[in-house]
Amino acid sequence: MRKKVSIIGAGNVGATAAQMIAQSGIADIVLFDIADGMPRGKALDIAEACPLWNSSVSVKGSNNYADTKDSDIVVIAAGFPRKPNMSRDDLLHANADVVKAASDAIAKTSPDAIILVVTNPMDVMAQLAWKATEFSCRRVMGMGGILDSARLRTFLAWELNVSPEDIEVIVLGGHGDQMVPLPRFTTVKGIPITELLKKKTIELLIHRTRNGGAEIVNLLKTGSAYYAPAAAVFQMVKSIIFDEKRMLPCAVYLNGEYGIKDLYVGVPVILGKEGVEKVVEVKLSKEEKSHFKESCASVRRLVKKLSI
Ligand code: NAI
Ligand code: 2OP
Repeated sequence: MRKKVSIIGAGNVGATAAQMIAQSGIADIVLFDIADGMPRGKALDIAEACPLWNSSVSVKGSNNYADTKDSDIVVIAAGFPRKPNMSRDDLLHANADVVKAASDAIAKTSPDAIILVVTNPMDVMAQLAWKATEFSCRRVMGMGGILDSARLRTFLAWELNVSPEDIEVIVLGGHGDQMVPLPRFTTVKGIPITELLKKKTIELLIHRTRNGGAEIVNLLKTGSAYYAPAAAVFQMVKSIIFDEKRMLPCAVYLNGEYGIKDLYVGVPVILGKEGVEKVVEVKLSKEEKSHFKESCASVRRLVKKLSI
């Protein structure tokens, strides 16, 4: 039987992720939103594209959580995106209410689901969704590191004039401005970029990546990035549905790994049919450790603000 993926929030990220899943034909989709009619309109439009994509999946839009019942995966992409001059942290309280409401509903309607949290500030929202649902932490995770890595891969590919496919990146820490890239483990077909680029160039590309979300917000003027974020969600959904066991940077619950306890933050994990099947620990240098701790401390400050 085909898997069922529900997407909470049929905005830019949610609808684009729905499109990617429908186009690939890997799961039935329910697109949920509080905006009246809108998720049905988008779902109908995507469903009408399925014949052209040779896809037979079902795509349903809804304003009713009952339609998301017994989902295998639920993506939470509901909330408010960042506007120019607005930090992710400004979104904290508004989006916490949205994620709490979504989590409470999912816990009732899809008690066995795996939850992927997109809503910002994502690391904190993942922790909130985990607490609110009381699901096993293996089944609640956040998307951020894949997007940060994809941005760095893009900029490195442009700088080195190679395919981004040949670039592997590991990032740790909170999503976006708080990310901790590891140039030592960033390679072009196994060759560390530290051997291919000057330190200054690497720093500039990392700086651009850190501000990758804001760069797009400033260009779009309304709303934030969604094509690459949706592609990142799709990669996670695919790894879970097909039990691919991809090693991907995701925000997951740390309980002692990397010396961090009781916090959702980005680290490399193995993603398979059970959700987070393993946290992959790499040995960090003194400097990397200190950057990671700083990043965790800023995520924890937001968690404390919400009293999660
Ligand atoms: P959007 O504004 O296009 O869509 C958000 C949707 O959520 C809207 O359709 C809205 O009606 C809906 N919504 C609001 N309250 C709701 C509720 N209580 N229940 C169900 N739906 C509700 O925003 P976009 O661009 O899709 O971004 C969504 C979220 O994802 C934002 O918080 C954004 O900052 C975040 N984001 C995170 C990324 C990451 O890497 N973790 C990347 C891109 C976006
Ligand atoms: C991004 O990095 C807004 O978190 C989103 O584009």
